[in-house]
Amino acid sequence: MRLDKYLCECGCGTRSEVKKIIKAGMVRIDGYVAKKPEIKVDESADEVSVNGNPVRYTKFVYYMLNKPAGYVSATRDNKDRTVMELLDKKDLREDMFPVGRLDKDTEGLLIISNDGGVAHDILSPKKHVDKTYYVKVKGKVKEEHVEMFREGVDIGEKSLTLPAKLNIIKSLDVSEVYLTISEGKFHQVKRMFKAAGMEVIYLKRIKMGNLELDDTLIPGGYRPLTDSELKMLCERG
Ligand code: URA
Repeated sequence: MRLDKYLCECGCGTRSEVKKIIKAGMVRIDGYVAKKPEIKVDESADEVSVNGNPVRYTKFVYYMLNKPAGYVSATRDNKDRTVMELLDKKDLREDMFPVGRLDKDTEGLLIISNDGGVAHDILSPKKHVDKTYYVKVKGKVKEEHVEMFREGVDIGEKSLTLPAKLNIIKSLDVSEVYLTISEGKFHQVKRMFKAAGMEVIYLKRIKMGNLELDDTLIPGGYRPLTDSELKMLCERG
């Protein structure tokens, strides 16, 4: 890998920033000053340092983000702020992306990574990784809806939704529920409640697979996943 790319991916700055520190002679490979950004680094063998501080390369990174409303789940957008803008410059790498989508107004658990394999494992329709949402809806959610969601709902797709688990927390004019689904169809939760004649007014994802959102993360806050959390993410709920 080129030295400038290596340094960017290690969080040492943008391409132009790392080029400057390379030109300034601040970067060493195996003890020798490396002055050209295009020099190749063997990321598994070479010792790279900036100002004498070792810089270690990790191939894959995984962050748990508590997505706030108002951000789109994309790497770039012409109109809206993206979830990538919530990451510190030091943690941002060019190859990172949000694993799956939450709507702009949805909050909660979103994984940011650069690992396409894990993304595929979680998102593949065949894998049926459970996702649990805390939902506020206008209208009284009743036992009949628990049954309806368990049996599958017609949301205008070729087939009914797969069995989903609805747990009623409060059944009032505005109801509160937990809903666990094992698919990820476009606007799925909102469309399921619409099919039941109700409107979702607040939506937050709280769990994916066996991984729960860290409730100490403020909206917009994020942290790396631990190894055991990474396993939990890929487990079927
Ligand atoms: N279902 C929705 O309707 N929206 C989301 O953001 C996620 C699931």
